[in-house]
Amino acid sequence: MPHAFVSSINKNIKPFSDGDLTLIGFFDARKYSLAFVQMRGLKFALTIKQKEGRFLVKPEKITRPSDLNLTKEAIALFCKNCCGEILSSNLALKKIKPKSPKLLDPLYFCKHPEFFDGEVSVEVGFGSGRHLLYRAKESPNKKFVGIEIHKPSIEQVLRQCQLQGIDNIYVMDFDARLIMETVKPDSLSEVFVHFPVPWPDSPTRRVISESFLAVCSRALKDGGYVELRSDDRDYFEYAFSSAMSLPKTKVDSTKNEPAEIVSKYEDRWLRKGKDIFEMRIYPQKESKSRPMRESFELGGEISVLRLNSLPKEGMVQEGVLVSFEEVLAAKDGKSFAVKVTFGDVARPDRRYIVCGKEEAYYYPFAPLCVEAGRKAHKIIKEYLYGKNS
Ligand SMILES: C[S@@+](CC[C@H](N)C(=O)[O-])C[C@H]1O[C@@H](n2cnc3c(N)ncnc32)[C@H](O)[C@@H]1O
Repeated sequence: MPHAFVSSINKNIKPFSDGDLTLIGFFDARKYSLAFVQMRGLKFALTIKQKEGRFLVKPEKITRPSDLNLTKEAIALFCKNCCGEILSSNLALKKIKPKSPKLLDPLYFCKHPEFFDGEVSVEVGFGSGRHLLYRAKESPNKKFVGIEIHKPSIEQVLRQCQLQGIDNIYVMDFDARLIMETVKPDSLSEVFVHFPVPWPDSPTRRVISESFLAVCSRALKDGGYVELRSDDRDYFEYAFSSAMSLPKTKVDSTKNEPAEIVSKYEDRWLRKGKDIFEMRIYPQKESKSRPMRESFELGGEISVLRLNSLPKEGMVQEGVLVSFEEVLAAKDGKSFAVKVTFGDVARPDRRYIVCGKEEAYYYPFAPLCVEAGRKAHKIIKEYLYGKNS
């Protein structure tokens, strides 16, 4: 991960711009500080932590971008403006910069339903990208959306697209279980889920569930399907019973049927002599429509009293979680950043809420336009501004 160790941090850090970097705010928690930055239009945060007499500057976990070069440049500019001497770092830029227009921001589908004009397929958790790249080359007139949370895989696939001149792959760096809810209804022909992590001890972390399949049924066109390939019999049976919990569905399944293209994980399991199970789930269409665009505006200044009395424990109301994790304060004591986890209990989302003198807003971007996000936003607003907000 890109980082720098520096000898010191300036005492009075104030918002500034230098080249492509803007420092939006600087907040202190008990054991670390956060610098909210914008670099070439992308908002994220840097964590600054004291470690054995020196300071470590690195990307913050929730907001960490997948573009390593951009992150390295941001850390270098932050250190130049706000820190003492750089003692060690790994900030040398990689030669090939992944072109980022193909990396869509997580709110993209909420804002651009026209993206789904024409044929579109999705692959969830593409890993090394073998299957995604193969499909995109086979069908150059179709769009392929890859949704992945593993940043090195994202960088690798973007780089391959650039090297191989593939321009019909679009990548999203986010939890696919949430993104799928933002896909325009009746628009996908396939959703590929190949060798998902089986999570035997915590099934709620699995990609496939009854609610994921219900969301897919809304996003798929008539005749569209979810394709699961897995070496894990338990997961396979779990997916089957999730499919059977839908009001109406058709499932085709096979065992050890060779794939058109063998993914990295399939290759690994085949070499170990494991059985490979495939299932195509054709969920019944669910025609309930819901708003795709949403305003997640907060309001004006939030009183310090309210911020100090936010509940310390997370709460769940009708399956929706809201947990105010921490309140960080700016040096001037007038603006704050609240770390909040919210949304569906099984797949919560995380953001910061920047509370300034005149306004409060979600950072680095608003919640996705999904049902649980909407409900959580209402609860968050009530806590920040009171019941009649
Ligand atoms: C075991 S790997 C399989 C990769 C690839 N499909 C293959 O067959 O080689 C599972 C991938 O799913 C990704 N993943 C897990 N949960 C995810 C989620 N909720 N949203 C998007 N990607 C996810 C992981 O980061 C990982 O790259």
